[in-house]
Amino acid sequence: MPTETTPAAAAAGTAAADVDWEALRAGAREIQARAYVPYSHYPVGAAALVDDGRVVRGCNVENAGYGVTLCAECGLVSDLVAGGGGRLVAFACVGGDGRTVMPCGRCRQLLWEHGGAELLVDTPRGVVPMTEVLPQAFDAHDLEVVQHPAQQPAQHPAQPPAPHPQEENP
Ligand code: THU
Repeated sequence: MPTETTPAAAAAGTAAADVDWEALRAGAREIQARAYVPYSHYPVGAAALVDDGRVVRGCNVENAGYGVTLCAECGLVSDLVAGGGGRLVAFACVGGDGRTVMPCGRCRQLLWEHGGAELLVDTPRGVVPMTEVLPQAFDAHDLEVVQHPAQQPAQHPAQPPAPHPQEENP
């Protein structure tokens, strides 16, 4: 099946067409088979391409304390960091039926931290950038406002503050 690429994804840093999406999905399906899901019986596998060419992966690991469950994306991010770090550039996630799974809200935040606005995400509606998956995301730029208050404009600035980096290239 050809990968549908939305205009927004095409405008992102890595071209969706340059990514071997079928290989990423296959990697996600493979790791999904190792999921530990005695409670939901809903195995999830995730795979992502890193900016240095590595592929990192993860599967969900559940717990009798349901809230302690680790989503597949948690394992993937752990794989990324433990393997030397880097930026995620393309992400795919599949469920037990082989269908594309959208990351849950918490995992969208996780992916944003390590891929940012330009991370390309495989979705049921085609490949889209993270700005469509998590619009107006909260991230480290928002913390800078508090950590470097001296750089903030006065209460009534003559000039509006610089736009958030996400908004510079709508
Ligand atoms: N799950 C993930 O692994 N990733 C997501 O983004 C959505 C949900 C898992 C958690 C739980 O083990 C199962 O799917 C059912 O919620």
